[in-house]
Amino acid sequence: MPDLAQLKRTARFAAMLYLTKGVVQYAGRIQGKPLARASIYPWYADPYPQYERIRDEGALVPAIARGVYATAEHDVCKQVLASRDFGTVGRDEVGPFERQIDLSLLEMDPPDHTRVRRVAAPAFTPRRMAAYETRIEALMHEIVDRAQAAGSFDLQQLISAPLPISVISQLLGVDEVDDEAFMRYGTALGGLLDGPQSLRHVREAIAARDALRAMFIPLIEERRREPREDMLTTLAQHEGEQITADEMMPLCTLLLVAGFETTVNLIGNSIHQLMRHRDQWEALTAEPALAANVVEETLRFDPPVQLTSRVARADVEVAGRRIRKGSWVIPIVAAAGRDPKVFTEPQSYDITREDAGNHLAFSSGIHYCIGAPLARLEATIAVRIIAERMPSLELAGKVPIRRSRVIRGVRRLPVRVTPARSAVRSTPLSAS
Ligand code: HEM
Repeated sequence: MPDLAQLKRTARFAAMLYLTKGVVQYAGRIQGKPLARASIYPWYADPYPQYERIRDEGALVPAIARGVYATAEHDVCKQVLASRDFGTVGRDEVGPFERQIDLSLLEMDPPDHTRVRRVAAPAFTPRRMAAYETRIEALMHEIVDRAQAAGSFDLQQLISAPLPISVISQLLGVDEVDDEAFMRYGTALGGLLDGPQSLRHVREAIAARDALRAMFIPLIEERRREPREDMLTTLAQHEGEQITADEMMPLCTLLLVAGFETTVNLIGNSIHQLMRHRDQWEALTAEPALAANVVEETLRFDPPVQLTSRVARADVEVAGRRIRKGSWVIPIVAAAGRDPKVFTEPQSYDITREDAGNHLAFSSGIHYCIGAPLARLEATIAVRIIAERMPSLELAGKVPIRRSRVIRGVRRLPVRVTPARSAVRSTPLSAS
């Protein structure tokens, strides 16, 4: 039975927070603060001009509220992300509702962060990646077989989402996968990075947390009794010594949700940009080995995670400005990818760009994305196989964008393929 009193308290807190956020944003808007001003426009459709305005205003500019700054500069983002004078915005530094959902590593500072990260890191070594490659290719071919049969379809729903969900579920050792429910959980929990949006969102996020907890508890108990070759077994083996029981569930949830919520959008954003830039799509279909470059260029040009935040743990100087302890800085990593001091012609999408990999889409410093090698592998295989097997792919309707400031992706990607020009498997499939 849900605890009704607790739910009511949560709802009250969330409503207060929601209102407070609205007032702060409104006040910021009147004063003309850049990120707050962004909320006047349907900025989520194209936030990039807004980032350019922030860059024009300076290397570090006041944003949203007092004691909060934003930066669109590559070197300043990198400095803040790598600096030991900054920490992640922890649970006691956010609103009462966000405090209820534990984001594990994402809100930990050393030494706890170092200890818990060591538990998860072995799952992402190059040797493990090489072992996953064949499995991911086989999965992708099955997914494309189904999509091709449909002719016209929503690529986000039929291809971008099922691949990362299957992959991360298999790696963790979750056998029973409900794609639709997982997508809902991902949207509710990933949406929290934007702050709670409504009471409905609050209820959905709590329900998602509870459903995933109910799924993980028996699986971890099972792995303790009968170890398998999966990530849950590795995590269960470290429990007690390197990771506490309380830390386990949030880490499992983070790995699952971060494992697909972002990768879905990396695949979707890559194909979306290729459809918008037809010459780049033609270049890729002529040379599918460019798929890895497509992924890097998309991470630079239109990354799934647009920004993050850090809090100053001491008085510190950033870009010539004195920042007081306790102030927040928002490194806009999506803007760093278009910094003209680092990239030539940053506003053009070019899949042959040699230095695209200098982006900060996976962050920097101690929180550098632990799943980056897996995300790159999955997205590269997905983009290559789509180009090889569906060269006639084209957009078949409007592409609605998710209403989020942090996660960038499409809500739907309607496409069609002309059967005569869509190929049957052209990459050799190793036995899986
Ligand atoms: C395109 C795909 C992905 C993108 C763009 C992405 C982006 C990021 C970013 C920006 C951070 C750091 C946030 C910060 O500095 O505040 C991060 C951290 C993290 N990511 Fe990813 N991620 C992706 C895929 C994955 C995958 C596939 C997994 C796991 C299977 C994963 C697991 C994690 C974890 C556990 C952290 C926390 C690391 C830490 O705090 O030490 N991510 N990711």
